[in-house]
Amino acid sequence: MEINIALLPGDGIGPEVVAQAVKVVNAIGKKFGHKISYKEGLVGACAIDATGDPYPDATHEICAASDAVLFGAIGDPKYDNDPKAKVRPEQGLLRMRQKLGLFANVRPTFTFPSLVHKSPLKLDRVDGVDFVFFRELTGGIYFGEPRGRNEQGTKAFDTNVYSKEEIVRLARMGFEAAQGRRKLLTCVDKANVMATSRLWRETVQELAPEYPDVKVEYEFVDAVAMRLIQWPKAYDVLITENLFGDILTDEASVISGSMGLMPSASLGSKVKLFEPIHGSYPQAAGKDIANPLATVLSAAMMFDYAFGLKEEAQAISDVVNLSLAEGYVTEDIADGGKAYKTSEVGDWLAAKILG
Ligand code: IPM
Ligand code: MG
Repeated sequence: MEINIALLPGDGIGPEVVAQAVKVVNAIGKKFGHKISYKEGLVGACAIDATGDPYPDATHEICAASDAVLFGAIGDPKYDNDPKAKVRPEQGLLRMRQKLGLFANVRPTFTFPSLVHKSPLKLDRVDGVDFVFFRELTGGIYFGEPRGRNEQGTKAFDTNVYSKEEIVRLARMGFEAAQGRRKLLTCVDKANVMATSRLWRETVQELAPEYPDVKVEYEFVDAVAMRLIQWPKAYDVLITENLFGDILTDEASVISGSMGLMPSASLGSKVKLFEPIHGSYPQAAGKDIANPLATVLSAAMMFDYAFGLKEEAQAISDVVNLSLAEGYVTEDIADGGKAYKTSEVGDWLAAKILG
């Protein structure tokens, strides 16, 4: 197969971890006989520095013409404490999602037996946790208009808005995912307070009869925030709006004790995007210490979701498991054992795939 990947390393540790994923993808290409080519684009703070725009047109063209986008991270501390900054790296990410039509963000949480003791939760709560969020990604309060301030600048407002169509397309993905898993779907909303949430709940209720094999539960977002910690094994597939999903998926990401390992996929259009969920981790940037496994596992999701190549995806997951089992890992999970550099882990994974 000929595969054309858009590489957006972005900021912070993004370039280092994406470089390791590229080694792994190339090894897979060699082993399974795929011709893989890359085009690189700028996004985030580095794009602002170079062009003044966090998602330049040139980057969008590269993405739109690709078969899939492999994304690192964006963000730079110099923008975080400057609420008056006119251009922000995050705007690039939001615009990219919107322009590429990536309306569904798939964020799984699963455990690795060798890392489960690092979870902040008790072992009996967390061992075997396996759920996945489908977060709506191009609507809601992130994009709703009007937004802004009154003339005096003393009042600010954002608008949360959802159409039925936006809810249906996200919910259908959740139902279908549940059918292929444990057949439990949780609709997360705040229907006791918010009109948008009532539309979510009503819409999911209307769809449910089309998926008679899926059991649907409706839970308020505050209760889910609590139960995710108390009994995370209660969940299988969760669907939710953009802001709730942003918050809950960060909470979910630390449950397994291996945030540095959690991948994600953004779906919705021909071009799909894959990224680690850990963010730009600026303190580690350029030090060759960041854990590349989440990006490598995002590349595994890419082979599965974007190209339908399950064997290749499995080969990547297998080699990641091997690195965990043999302790060929970076310092965040080395646990007193020898810690390897980001680049060494990438070389090791690629060599094992070919070996
Ligand atoms: C995420 C991030 C982004 C979001 C930020 C960087 C805009 O937190 O992907 O979850 O809020 O969606
Ligand atoms: Mg977030």
